[in-house]
Parts: sequence; C-alpha cells; structure tokens
Amino acid sequence: VDFDPVIVSAVVETPAVVIDYVRLRHNIDRMAELAQSGSVSLCPHIKTHKSLKIAELQMNAGATGVTASKSTEAEVFACAGIPSITVAYPLIDRTKIDRLLDCMDDNQTRVQFVIDSKAGLKALIESAKSVKQAPSAFVEVDVGLNRCGVNPLSDEALRLVRLLDSSPHIEFSGILSHAGQGYRAQSVDELQSIADTERRLMTEFADRLRKDGIAVPVVSVGSTPTVVRNAGFEGIDEIRPGNYVFMDRTQVALGVAQPKDVAFWIVATVVSVNTRFAIIDAGSKVLSSDVGPHGSSAVQGYGAAYLANASEEPPLTITGLSEEHGFLDHQGRPPMIGTRVAIMPNHSCPAANLAKEYLVINGQSKELWQVDARGPVR
Ligand SMILES: Cc1ncc(COP(=O)(O)O)c(C=O)c1O
Repeated sequence: VDFDPVIVSAVVETPAVVIDYVRLRHNIDRMAELAQSGSVSLCPHIKTHKSLKIAELQMNAGATGVTASKSTEAEVFACAGIPSITVAYPLIDRTKIDRLLDCMDDNQTRVQFVIDSKAGLKALIESAKSVKQAPSAFVEVDVGLNRCGVNPLSDEALRLVRLLDSSPHIEFSGILSHAGQGYRAQSVDELQSIADTERRLMTEFADRLRKDGIAVPVVSVGSTPTVVRNAGFEGIDEIRPGNYVFMDRTQVALGVAQPKDVAFWIVATVVSVNTRFAIIDAGSKVLSSDVGPHGSSAVQGYGAAYLANASEEPPLTITGLSEEHGFLDHQGRPPMIGTRVAIMPNHSCPAANLAKEYLVINGQSKELWQVDARGPVR
C-alpha cells in the first residue's frame, strides 16, 4: 500500500494533517546523502514545512543553514537559533529589511539576501549602514522560469554584480537560481535537461564573473525535481531543495518520488454521498486549490484519496473542491458515510501552509508539532 495504515487509525478527529515520521526522516537523510555524495552544501527551503522541529532534523542531518522566502519566516527561524538564513526572495521594502536585520543582529544570525535589481541593492545598502555586521547578498539569476533574476548572458547582469561586489556595507555571497520550470517537464529526461541547463548557465556565468576579477564565493541552485534528477553538480556549491521533506502527488507523477516516499498526508472522512460523489471534510481550506507548482500539469484534480478500508485499491481522484468540502468521484461505487480516506495532496507546501499543527506519527507514538512560522501575510 502507498501509505502506512497507522496514519489513518491514529487520527481521532478529521480533517487532520499527518506526517509519517519514518518517511520524513528517510527523505531528510536521503537528501543529505545526495548533497554529501555530490560535494555540495545543503541549505533546505523551509517554506515547505515552516516547522522548527523539522528544521532541527535537517540541521542535524548536516544542513549548513536554511532558506526562507518571507522575512517573517526568517525571523522565526533566527529567533530559534538557526545560524545562517538565506532569504531567497528579492526584498525591496526597507521596513522588512530593517526588521530582519535587527532580528539577525539580536540573534547573531548570518543573513544572506537576494537581489536582482539596482533598486533592491539600493534598499539593502541603505538598511545595512546601521547594522554592526555587514549582511551579504546573492544576485539571483533567471535560468528559464522567467520569474525573478537577471539574464546571465546580459551585460546588465555583469554590471549588477560589479555594483554589489564594490558596495560598502554589504558583501557579495555569489549567484543563486531556482529552475521551477522543472515542474512543467513532461519526462524525467526533460527534467534532467532542465537541471543541466541550469548548471551550465550558472557555472558559465560564474566563470564570466571570475574572468572579470570578481570572486564568486557560492553558486547556489535548487528545487526538489532538478536536484533529485540532477545532471551532476560540477561547479555548484550549494543546493536548496524544499519540498523533498514531504514530497507529494506532483513529485510522484514527475518521477521524482515513489508513493512510499510521501510523508505528508491529509486524513479526511466521507460525510455525505450522492449518486456521483462522496463528499469529504477536506476542501480548499485544507488541501489548497493548487493543482501543482508553476503550472505543472503532471496530475489531474486536487488530490488522490485512498479509502482506508480498501487501501490496496487505486485511489479516487478529488475532482472538485469547495471551501470545506471535497468531491470524490466514486464511479458508481459509493463508500459508506464515515469512511476514512488518506489523501496524497497535489502540492504539500501550500497544504502545510494552511495547517496549524502536524500530527506526527511514528509507529505507535504520536505527537503534535506546531507550524511555527505559520502566519502573517507580510
Ligand atoms: C528560490 C527558491 N529556492 C528553492 C525552492 C525550493 O524548491 P522546491 O520546493 O521545488 O524544492 C523554491 C521553491 O519555491 C524557491 O522559490
């Protein structure tokens, strides 16, 4: 079976967000081994789980620090004593930068920012003037997602790095990329070719900078699919996968994980049945409405629901969602009201973002872990 039945039997009240601890540990250890065998450091993205306990497991397995996307997330992890945090998001708002710098000073945390514009650099320099320890910043490189980042082949990219490298109050960390377009790959080969393009663009840009006399301390890349299906790490110093701790239905469909690797599940109950659908007590406020990251079309519907009393059978697809209801297409075989289902979500990160706590199940023992950096939209 694709899930351990104990994750259903241990749940008292549904909907529940459940973590299979054995699988979580396995995913953490496997990524740590991958990083070690590729001679790259691992700086996992904590936006996936927002949990101090999970970050601690990652740090104990050898992570050198963590990556965050929001300044408010970074603050929670700094206060908890994580020694080094990369905020892999172009902060341009001095209110956020100032608050984060204060927090980093108070906790003696090393912070690395990300910029992709002169405006971002200017904001950072202004804020950095008043802190004791100079923060550092990566220049983000666009390797094909067309989201943030400079074009590595452009003169403008070189000029921005030169400007950062010669700026007072701030140090140059290196270059950073995220090939999120890997989520749109149609095959494992295509995924590997996206990873290869990222590696080539990044190492060639680093070489160009070095020829220009600029030291490039770190070349940082990362997303779970392109790291797992990598094309070698030559010239790369650091990887920043996030989703790998949990995995999900999209990673399984992309050929990045097996169902037995998925550590993040939602347990729900059938609360009503009609001729077409079994209705469960998990809707968009539990699963999120995400059909997959970055326009991925790897999966259909909103999740795969395994009937707990028929766990060997293929899962039913959640074909529709309203806020508190999920629609299970039962195909003429309606389950009984009260039946429990274990749902493999399309995308574990936004589902985790909606949770207040995780029910962490390890064999017969269970614990509640808070989603510590859950919260404010700022
Ligand atoms: C800048 C950056 N780095 C790393 C990651 C981690 O990617 P994944 O969740 O695919 O592992 C993300 C994810 O959104 C990201 O935006």
